[in-house]
Amino acid sequence: MSRKKHSLATNAIHGGSGARHPGDPIAPPLVQSVNFIQEVGTEDGLLYTRYGNTPNLVQVQKRLALIEGAEASLVLASGMGATACAMLALLRPGDHLLASSHIYGGTYRLLTEEFTRNGIEVTLVDPFEPRAWRKHLRKETRAVFVESPVNPTCRVLDMRPISYLTKEVGLALVVDSTFASPVNFRPLEHGADVVIHSGTKYLNGHHDAMCGVVCGTEPYIAEVLAKMMVWGQAPDPFAAWLLDRGLKTLDVRVKRQNENAMRIALWCADRKEIKKVHYPGLRTHPDHDVAKAMLDGWGGMLAIELTGGGKAADRFLRRLKIIQHATSLGGVDSLVSEPRYSSHARMSSEERSRIGIPDGFTRISVGIEDADDLIADIEQALK
Ligand SMILES: Cc1ncc(COP(=O)(O)O)c(C=O)c1O
Repeated sequence: MSRKKHSLATNAIHGGSGARHPGDPIAPPLVQSVNFIQEVGTEDGLLYTRYGNTPNLVQVQKRLALIEGAEASLVLASGMGATACAMLALLRPGDHLLASSHIYGGTYRLLTEEFTRNGIEVTLVDPFEPRAWRKHLRKETRAVFVESPVNPTCRVLDMRPISYLTKEVGLALVVDSTFASPVNFRPLEHGADVVIHSGTKYLNGHHDAMCGVVCGTEPYIAEVLAKMMVWGQAPDPFAAWLLDRGLKTLDVRVKRQNENAMRIALWCADRKEIKKVHYPGLRTHPDHDVAKAMLDGWGGMLAIELTGGGKAADRFLRRLKIIQHATSLGGVDSLVSEPRYSSHARMSSEERSRIGIPDGFTRISVGIEDADDLIADIEQALK
């Protein structure tokens, strides 16, 4: 049987490679040069790393577009660089943005401090309140920004009513789907126009490259590129190479992370030391049914609230041996972090509580270690 379209797992390895010939390397060479000899008398073929058009960048961008099901993609220097340029390509001073109030702390600061200071009005909307988006619409509203699943609460947004509204009114729907990776969630299939990733997380997957990704239509990505070039947000070629290398195992890594996280969530749900487990795969999760409709896998991220609150969380973190206390997520090593001291440190305790992050809330990024070893590590740390 011949298949026209390759699956994500195949595209993550071969996507956009073109024909191969005897003598070609299997692993793509790293072209670290930022300068390339230019033809005289024309700007055609001008290559420069800050322009996002050098060999390792071009290769991985083609691959990411195929994986996400987009016309084009752009790799930037970080997830924050990706969000900043993606939104700057859509918004001008005087425009209004509707953004979910349940978003990563860095994005929250970018939108509510930097953008507002530069003449872009931002309204934060509770995405779990029915009709809230419509209520806050203005004639200057240009885009809707959401994150799903949400860092760190693992809430999952129903894209159906949101994309229905953005299509009806003609707004751009931008989705940060870092937490899911394209293995578990492809927002373009659910009505989104733009997808953002912190490539530092699942896409790279090995804790060794900082990068971000924006996917969308070709003309839109050209606009994002124009922002990236002047705001200086291009990645280094080695980061692009590491991202490409990480992508090759994305499918198997994320599936293993999904399995491990489900096992850990089920185990944690039975422990008296743990007050609450936040994991969309559990039937008790408020968005379990939404997640069923949106996601292909429950994800490798979960969070727990210990019965003993903040103090118990500190003790637990100090006693873990395999699972390391570090910010960031999505890589092969399991990591744990407390948002009040990392991703959401700049929010007040009240602001955090409002979006479901009480003190002592502990986020676990499940890696690809043996699940029994991870459970044993958690068990001995809870004692
Ligand atoms: C959901 C989400 N979006 C964006 C970012 C920013 O990514 P980066 O750290 O690569 O700039 C993060 C980082 O934690 C994140 O969790």
